[in-house]
Amino acid sequence: MGSTGQNPPQRNQTALVEFILLGFSDVPSLQGFLFGLFLVMYVMALVGNSLILIITKTDPSLQMPMYLFLGNFSFLEICYVSVTIPRLLEDLHRQNRSISFLACATQMYVFLVLGVTECFILTAMAYDRYVAICNPLLYPVIMNNKLSSQLAGGCWISGVPVHIGFTYSIFSLPFCGHNQLNHFFCDVPPVLTLVCGDTFLIEMLIYVIALLVVTVPFMLIVGSYVKIISTIMKLPSTTGRAKAFSTCSSHLMVVALFFGSGIITYLRPKSSHSPKTDKFLSLFYTIVTPMFNPMIYCLRNKDVMVALKKFLLKWIVL
Ligand SMILES: *[C@@H]1O[C@H](CO)[C@@H](O)[C@H](O)[C@H]1NC(C)=O
Repeated sequence: MGSTGQNPPQRNQTALVEFILLGFSDVPSLQGFLFGLFLVMYVMALVGNSLILIITKTDPSLQMPMYLFLGNFSFLEICYVSVTIPRLLEDLHRQNRSISFLACATQMYVFLVLGVTECFILTAMAYDRYVAICNPLLYPVIMNNKLSSQLAGGCWISGVPVHIGFTYSIFSLPFCGHNQLNHFFCDVPPVLTLVCGDTFLIEMLIYVIALLVVTVPFMLIVGSYVKIISTIMKLPSTTGRAKAFSTCSSHLMVVALFFGSGIITYLRPKSSHSPKTDKFLSLFYTIVTPMFNPMIYCLRNKDVMVALKKFLLKWIVL
């Protein structure tokens, strides 16, 4: 950018005002199929997570911190899929795939904030299980209503300020000429490939933020589970062990899916990135895990399954 008013604007640096989201246009013959597939997955994610949210709100046997967090988590997943998938469906359906800078920045911002919230809520859920299993006598005292709402509120709020600065600094980098984003939403790595100029500082910033909001929560979760599992191993009876483990195995699976796909996507060495595999991997954390989470919870958690059956029976009978 010119530093003074007298300099004529440089021709090759006309400011871009929009990107083109290429999405899955490299496979033109599959547009209809992909539209149907993603639509079905989106609807399944919405229905599954809404059911969980409703039963955690209404079923009297689920009025415990663990399930209040689960309700938060399902609500979060509904928001999370709705940031990316409707836009993807629209793009699969039409020819004009341009997205304005503002829309792109907004999408990235909301997506990142929800991602942070997801990391933190998963951590809060692990902490809840840790207290419940390693410190059962004090559990009702420690995990009281006040603490659990403070934890839940903190998870939702803390991502908000961090990513304002971060998204702003990405979109104030110079973009010039090439504006085709080979991805289906405005995620950080594909947008960075369009920056002309040095991205070293922003990449350092990404590592610092990722360390704070992804690695630290992940370590806390791993730490909680090391304690949880060693406590469970010491339980005298097999049935006691099975029971204690069943309350946290579903959470452990959800953690593995979310952090696994996130870490593979964001922390792989740059040389191994190709747009095709990036798009494919992103599908995991944008739509596949939100779709499977409710199923994991229903299949692996007895209380949720019982509450869900009760809820469905009531509505089918009515
Ligand atoms: C989130 O959790 C808090 C505290 O545990 C609870 O009060 C609130 O209703 C939950 N929100 C949703 C949407 O489930």
